[in-house]
Amino acid sequence: MFQVKNYAGNKEENYQLLLKQFSALLEDEKDSIASLANASALLNQFLDNVNWVGFYIWKQDELVLGPFQGLPACVRIPYGKGVCGTAVKELKTQRVADVSSFPGHITCDAASQSEIVIPITVNNDIYGVLDIDSPIKDRFDVIDQKYLEEFVTILAEHLC
Ligand code: SME
Repeated sequence: MFQVKNYAGNKEENYQLLLKQFSALLEDEKDSIASLANASALLNQFLDNVNWVGFYIWKQDELVLGPFQGLPACVRIPYGKGVCGTAVKELKTQRVADVSSFPGHITCDAASQSEIVIPITVNNDIYGVLDIDSPIKDRFDVIDQKYLEEFVTILAEHLC
């Protein structure tokens, strides 16, 4: 089964190892909840300086809390609201260096200072978002964005 690796390379090498681990972890699994749960656990042990890692799933016309690691969070987020709802509206990654300056940011954990939210699409339909929060400002850079978007692409291939 899964073994935690020593991520001893540079940032990009470590992300490349993570993506390999993730592909192996998902393998032929067809259960979406299982894949989302393992995805949040894998990211949580890989990333430093994060306090919340998880998913919101698009159900009818709002985002609903899915598998995650971190403190209990708000359950429902409307379309266009907060960072997550904005990611769905714009179908674009939101990389927020300082959440206090993001209009309408929804505070679930007061410790969160920066975040990245990546929309997940399956067969061109919105499926949900990956949401990662950090207790430090400006935690996520373009390298994080690039590899986390690849992570979501791999994940989306295993969702239905
Ligand atoms: N930060 C999100 C709310 C969800 S929590 O961070 C888990 C937002 O503003 O959309």
